Amino acid sequence: MSEFPVAVRRPAGLYLDLLKNCLTRVLFPDRGLDHDLVTTSPVVLADRLEGKDWPTEAETMVGIRRLDQLEACMVNALENGVPGDFVETGVWRGGASILMRAVLKAYGDCDRRVWLADSFQGLPLPDPARYPQDAGDGHHQLSGYLAIPLEEVQANFRRYGLLDEQVCFLPGWFKDTLPSAPIAQISVLRLDGDMYESTMEALEYLYPRVSDGGFIVVDDYGALPNCRAAIEDFRSACGITEPVVRIDWTGVFWQKGHFAPRSPLGPAGDGIGGDEELNATDSDFDEEFYLALNPDVAQAVLQGHFHSAREHFFKYGRAEGRRLR
Ligand SMILES: C[S@@+](CC[C@H](N)C(=O)[O-])C[C@H]1O[C@@H](n2cnc3c(N)ncnc32)[C@H](O)[C@@H]1O
Repeated sequence: MSEFPVAVRRPAGLYLDLLKNCLTRVLFPDRGLDHDLVTTSPVVLADRLEGKDWPTEAETMVGIRRLDQLEACMVNALENGVPGDFVETGVWRGGASILMRAVLKAYGDCDRRVWLADSFQGLPLPDPARYPQDAGDGHHQLSGYLAIPLEEVQANFRRYGLLDEQVCFLPGWFKDTLPSAPIAQISVLRLDGDMYESTMEALEYLYPRVSDGGFIVVDDYGALPNCRAAIEDFRSACGITEPVVRIDWTGVFWQKGHFAPRSPLGPAGDGIGGDEELNATDSDFDEEFYLALNPDVAQAVLQGHFHSAREHFFKYGRAEGRRLR
């Protein structure tokens, strides 16, 4: 975890920080889960921050770091007028999607919708004839933990006062629900279906609907080789050249198209720097996460306006109060 204290935030950011701490149970520690695949007993706070464990009570297994970055993508899309809804494929207990709805509420957006695509009965049996990369995948055997009924997800939204007509559910297997899903445009597409099949189907059916300047956020690129293979195969088949940016040990994202941010060097996001950030020393700087949290800086670095995130931060970002975490 970064040593920088949280920057002074506007009320919207403060609400979202509190929500993320609740959804992950960083605030109210989770009991953790002992499991063949992942052991989290006793609960280690660092694991919750990085989303490395399988929680018992938290509404999301995604850690704070990836949720911070998801928020940054959504806020970037809202502030830059990138059209389209927010979509998550693979929602489990709904936590990341609850954050999506909360961002719309916090920023006063009453038009966009949040779409949740899930079987609400766990992952499918592998289909190695069509997707050899999924041969032997055992996620379907974990339905005792991974199958969360729609009603439970809805109850989780209700718990946070966020279940309303801007939240839409697509119950069923992706291959059945996504082709005809009534989603016109997408500004943030979050992929969390774990398997090759689930990742590939989400991309095939939804990527064409992602707006120029929209974001594709992938949860399991680092953790699951079959998910990573689907991303690489799809990008290569479609000739996608926008670079993949790392978020943390497993998450990545890329921004679609050659989108010019309104103000590549101007203030962005919700952060207003505190004294500690102004005093940040070169050695404290987390290059990778600064790029993940500031997608417009990632673009500016990729376009050659800056040699590095570090250069941007110490020339502009520090004075602008850019978020470091
Ligand atoms: C790792 S969990 C998602 C975690 C969640 N995003 C969070 O915030 O904690 C994976 C989810 O994907 C769903 N899923 C995976 N493949 C699917 C498919 N092909 N069709 C429908 N749902 C699928 C599972 O039911 C499960 O809820």
